[in-house]
Amino acid sequence: MARCLSLTTVLKSLITLVVLITFMIALIKTRILEPHVPERSLARDPGPPILLATDSYHAKDSRLERNNNGIEGSEFDKNKQDESDDDKIGDVEDNDDDSSNEDISESVGEVVSIKDEIEILGNILTQKLAAVYDVNIEPLKPTCRNKSVLANSCEGSKRCLRTQLPDDPKARVQQLVGPNKLRLSPTQHELLRKMAKKVEGFYDIILLTAASSNHFNESQALLQTVHTNLFPILKNFTLIFYDIGLTSQEKALMMKNCRCQYLHFPFEVFPEFLRELRCYSWKPVMIKSMLQKANIIVWMDASVRFLDQTENIQVVIGNARKRGVQIGGSNVISAFRTFRSMYHFFGDEPCAYFALGMAKATFGIYHNEIFVDRAILAPWAACALTAECMCPPDRFMGTCRQSKDMFKLWREQDGPIMYGLCHLYDQSAISLILHKLYQESFRWVYCNTNYFSRIQRDDLAGYFS
Ligand SMILES: *[C@@H]1O[C@H](CO)[C@@H](O)[C@H](O)[C@H]1NC(C)=O
Ligand SMILES: *[C@@H]1O[C@H](CO)[C@@H](O)[C@H](O)[C@H]1NC(C)=O
Ligand SMILES: *[C@@H]1O[C@H](CO)[C@@H](O)[C@H](O)[C@H]1NC(C)=O
Repeated sequence: MARCLSLTTVLKSLITLVVLITFMIALIKTRILEPHVPERSLARDPGPPILLATDSYHAKDSRLERNNNGIEGSEFDKNKQDESDDDKIGDVEDNDDDSSNEDISESVGEVVSIKDEIEILGNILTQKLAAVYDVNIEPLKPTCRNKSVLANSCEGSKRCLRTQLPDDPKARVQQLVGPNKLRLSPTQHELLRKMAKKVEGFYDIILLTAASSNHFNESQALLQTVHTNLFPILKNFTLIFYDIGLTSQEKALMMKNCRCQYLHFPFEVFPEFLRELRCYSWKPVMIKSMLQKANIIVWMDASVRFLDQTENIQVVIGNARKRGVQIGGSNVISAFRTFRSMYHFFGDEPCAYFALGMAKATFGIYHNEIFVDRAILAPWAACALTAECMCPPDRFMGTCRQSKDMFKLWREQDGPIMYGLCHLYDQSAISLILHKLYQESFRWVYCNTNYFSRIQRDDLAGYFS
């Protein structure tokens, strides 16, 4: 009897086991047979989860931000470059017909309509805005209704364009992602992909910089601080140096000493006006392209010097992973330092941006996520590749000195406002884009670079020799 019982038990367990195994095989099969979902699928993946600020970055982070208010916006005297190819400006292809559905799917591997793209990016922005915590933020007021702020906004264009930034996150995204002229054409996408292919490997972090001959010495000083203060604390990174006009002797020195991947910027494949280095059009193009090769792009102008305060830069890189962008900021009102023609290119009047502080494109961290790629870097690069937007022929008309004086007069003596006296190219454009998306919360994507770096235009010839 006892034997009989135990036999039954054994049989029962065996049957249970078989059933279990069959079930598991079925389970594995269904998983394997499931269609492969591309990792960065736009249609299914609403982007990386937006982390709320409950982690260890929180305390340091708010400290970094609060001090943002103390930054002076003196960093606007972009260095002089040689005046070449001025007469060739305006040689830009018209991208109005270039945008198509295939275009959108290119980096996603899936066909998604512009409408869907806007829907998805709008939802991501909604999440991003919900994650903003800053008690000092006041909602944006409709500034253009004030005649003194409206100033000369609408003059010079046939009609007044948009005089108010949209509230709805989807509309914010739509205004940047919808218009054909703010979309990169398939050809342009292909050129950027080719640039990215020149980089060996895929990294967590790409440190990115560029220099021409007249910044060669300055660039050495940057690289010294990068080697000394950044290299020892970073993991899984590469340094990329773009040559935008070194002599062959400087090139040889750079390649020998930079501890980097040296690349030549392919001016020959882009419109002629990109050779006008002072327009900085090459910079958004490089950043957008390199985003294909790393989780994080750290852009550094040749004037950046890293301090030995390594913990602080790690905090800011951490913030960039969560927020998408961390860029230097200033209290200068960007509408004073941006040509009206750039606002008009984006369909806006400058008065709508009144009181929003300018970003400093000197230093910026960009996270590889669909929102940053599509809603920030793509329109930035599209603007950069259009002379009318970033490098207008009348860019020598005004000077920033004039604009600075007007600003001072306005602030101290309630003088008249006048827009369009000065233009800061890449910096003007990234400010506009971040303002449109984040509006009164724009400081969320700014960082105080003083905690880990200085801007210094002096040089340090001899680091390489
Ligand atoms: C218009 O804006 C200016 C500049 O900010 C301000 O000084 C002035 O008081 C405003 N006027 C009205 C009527 O709100
Ligand atoms: C470096 O980081 C990239 C991106 O996260 C990853 O794909 C790669 O495997 C990493 N390489 C090493 C050696 O850890
Ligand atoms: C860079 O440094 C070298 C060596 O000191 C010097 O001869 C050269 O004039 C410097 N170049 C610039 C652009 O300052």
